[in-house]
Amino acid sequence: MNEILNAMNIHKSFNSGSEKIDVLQGVNLRIEEGDFISITGPSGSGKSTLLHILGGLLHPDKGDVVLEGKPVYSHPDPELARIRNEKIGFIFQFHHLLSDFTVLENLMIPLLIKGFSKKEASHKAMELLRIVDLENRIHCKPKTLSGGEKQRVAVLRAIINQPTLLLADEPTGDLDFEHANTILQMLKNIHKERGMTIIVVSHNRRVAKIGKKIYNLIDGRLKENEM
Ligand SMILES: Nc1ncnc2c1ncn2[C@@H]1O[C@H](COP(=O)(O)OP(=O)(O)OP(=O)(O)O)[C@@H](O)[C@H]1O
Ligand SMILES: [Mg+2]
Repeated sequence: MNEILNAMNIHKSFNSGSEKIDVLQGVNLRIEEGDFISITGPSGSGKSTLLHILGGLLHPDKGDVVLEGKPVYSHPDPELARIRNEKIGFIFQFHHLLSDFTVLENLMIPLLIKGFSKKEASHKAMELLRIVDLENRIHCKPKTLSGGEKQRVAVLRAIINQPTLLLADEPTGDLDFEHANTILQMLKNIHKERGMTIIVVSHNRRVAKIGKKIYNLIDGRLKENEM
């Protein structure tokens, strides 16, 4: 199998007042095309920090991530930004939708950038919005949505371009049971039908069970877990 991502000896600390918190202390993780893994661990254990580092969004103090054979941090290649934009879909824990645009526009923008026509983009976006029960919210701005509604839009935005690698940070954290199931089923489907490689982060064991391989983030390191 082709290796997509390889994180080697990742270290990250933060300064909080006079105290230094060593969040990641030598994380190693190798992901192959078609993998579906989850990372679990208590709140504050460093799951989001790790996912941001894997996605090229946060510089580690030590170690590097190799994405499709290219080092992300030690010798960044100008090509890397393009690879990242094209290949990685990111579902952020705190959504990060574009506040000046409507729900429909937030979903259409990645498609328009990719060269789809307005009509195609709107059709595709509407198709997904219907699945997650948001067809009547399409003209709303994100600030008028509930947390769970924003989260559903954020999930759709990350997958609409069919990225090769999906990094999902607590993708159902704000959702009720039914909508959480819809989203988890959606992730399972895109993994199965399109072979999308997925990393899901969640402190919720029910969500973490979706992964074919489950890792625990404990004391700054990943340990493979039998659940
Ligand atoms: N920018 C920052 N500055 C200082 N401390 C930070 C920063 N980002 C994260 N931390 C600290 O690092 C630790 C790990 O945070 P992180 O957000 O990665 O945890 P998490 O496992 O995702 O938690 P949760 O399950 O609550 O989302 C926490 O103690 C947090 O306070
Ligand atoms: Mg987090």
